[in-house]
Amino acid sequence: MNTGLMLFNKTLLGGCAGFSRISNSVRRKAIVAVDEKKKNTFFITTPIYYVNADPHIGHLYSSVIADCIARWHLLCDKGTEIKFSTGTDEHGSKIQQASNANALSPIHYCDKIAESYRNLAECFNINYTDFTRTTDANHIKTLKKFWNVLQKKNYIYSADYEGWYCVSDETFLTSSQLKEVEDNNGKKIYISQESGHPVEWTKETNYLFKLSEFQEELIRWLQKNEVAVRPRKFQKILLDLLSREKLPDLSVSRPSSRVSWGVTVPSDKSQTIYVWLDALVNYLTAAEYKTNNGKFEENWPPDIQVIGKDILKFHGIYWPAFLMAADLELPRTLLCHSHWTVGLEKMSKSKGNIVDPIKRSEVFTADGLRYYLLRVGVAHSDGNYNDSKAIRVLNAELADTLGNLLNRCTATVLNPNQEFPKLNREVLEEVKKLDVAKTLIENVEKLPFICEAHYNEFKIYKVVDAVIATLHSANLFFETMKPWELKKLPEEKETLDVVLHLTMETLRVSGILLLPVIPHLSSKLLSKLNIPEISHNLESVKTFSWNNSDFNSIKLLPEKVMLFRRILLENKPKMKISQ
Ligand code: MSP
Repeated sequence: MNTGLMLFNKTLLGGCAGFSRISNSVRRKAIVAVDEKKKNTFFITTPIYYVNADPHIGHLYSSVIADCIARWHLLCDKGTEIKFSTGTDEHGSKIQQASNANALSPIHYCDKIAESYRNLAECFNINYTDFTRTTDANHIKTLKKFWNVLQKKNYIYSADYEGWYCVSDETFLTSSQLKEVEDNNGKKIYISQESGHPVEWTKETNYLFKLSEFQEELIRWLQKNEVAVRPRKFQKILLDLLSREKLPDLSVSRPSSRVSWGVTVPSDKSQTIYVWLDALVNYLTAAEYKTNNGKFEENWPPDIQVIGKDILKFHGIYWPAFLMAADLELPRTLLCHSHWTVGLEKMSKSKGNIVDPIKRSEVFTADGLRYYLLRVGVAHSDGNYNDSKAIRVLNAELADTLGNLLNRCTATVLNPNQEFPKLNREVLEEVKKLDVAKTLIENVEKLPFICEAHYNEFKIYKVVDAVIATLHSANLFFETMKPWELKKLPEEKETLDVVLHLTMETLRVSGILLLPVIPHLSSKLLSKLNIPEISHNLESVKTFSWNNSDFNSIKLLPEKVMLFRRILLENKPKMKISQ
């Protein structure tokens, strides 16, 4: 180990990649436990994905946001273990229809698509710890247990139910959720305002959940709890919805004769459990609700549940009501994101505008697409996906601003000793008299604090923005200092070292702060600078080399690193939007 490495080891709290790690007890003691009961688990979830179609960038977006936040949490090293659950939603008539259309049995069809979601996660470094499929025996047991709890507590009753039923959305709708339109034959029909799918008047015997009993409690939860739903806009949408109309009871089963691909109601084979109740319980399955081994108490409640705005009602009304009924704690925060459109339209198979993330990763790399989604996507409003824009952003920021700066300061022409050189303090003071240097140092010193605030507010685009702005000031500093001229003058060797040092320290700080966004690229950058994994944490990023009189030079890793290859526009057609 070289001296520079030792210095990082000595001064910084340890931390390493890998979510299954349990922090050492010494560090744990130093950290104020967030919640005694929940012990050391930070529990984050993504929605579970429908298997009626292959994954697109919208699905990837939910997963990438959750992964980024989980990695941020790890970087902060709060002494917690990360539990990160994802999975697939496999029951219901839509899935049954999709399997028929693919000439496969439902379970074989589900196996195939569930596998493509696992592949997606692997390809994009989504570091989940739990993958729940609603067809897993374990999940089915959990669902039945949860059903029995609700029934025992008298929140489920059987009744004749009639109303407008939307087959494609598998839900009953109230008349205020409908729109009257004419079908192709000019006949007046009703459709769902939200999804545009037709509804039909349906009469059947169902089990109902006493949702209406929870209206006041739901309002109180949303009013009292500042961070129940983020961004605030979505909390307001829920409150408006709850204040506008009286909640009806919710039908939580369907006749098995109509929906057979599902979990039957315990002790009533004639009914299948409603797919949304089935799906929402996946979070309890992941948390080990079924087992009585004490794990559930350690895991529950989820700290953050990432969802898209289309499923806000299910997670912001039905889900908390189910949990209230079962006397379980509610999730701490629902983090709701908006949608990706293409040509300003919703992605759909029929429009042929589905953006395939795997194809994009072949041209942009997986980190490239992660970067673009997190850099350009904002939670509060929809973003329009565009390949040309993605290429422009990636070339300008990852290839030029970040990659090129690393290449320049590690090139043998300027850096023949191949090191992150140590500083001559007097020379540093001289260089700091220049505005470009002063600005750079100020920016780098502020950066971790700015990013910490943005990460904690889930404003990832602002994190990236702040890092890129700092890297711009580093590029300006580098250009202004003309290190290639300094190189020609032996008496300026120490000034050259100051230039290289300040640039590399900016890269170290930026690389660590970008680890949650682009884990692979950042690791590559940090490993070129020979920054050990143990110092990939927030603590180390707030400790600047220029304030550390013990800092010694660090030998760079000899391998040549091409951080991000510029994307040629002629590669764009390869990604042709496909179904
Ligand atoms: N199966 C339900 C979720 C059950 S969770 C208990 C479901 N699945 S889904 O596959 O349709 O959607 C999963 C996630 O992908 C949701 O968060 C959804 O918002 C997100 N996206 C699907 N299309 C999207 C876009 N076009 N843009 C961004 N995200 C969107 O709903």
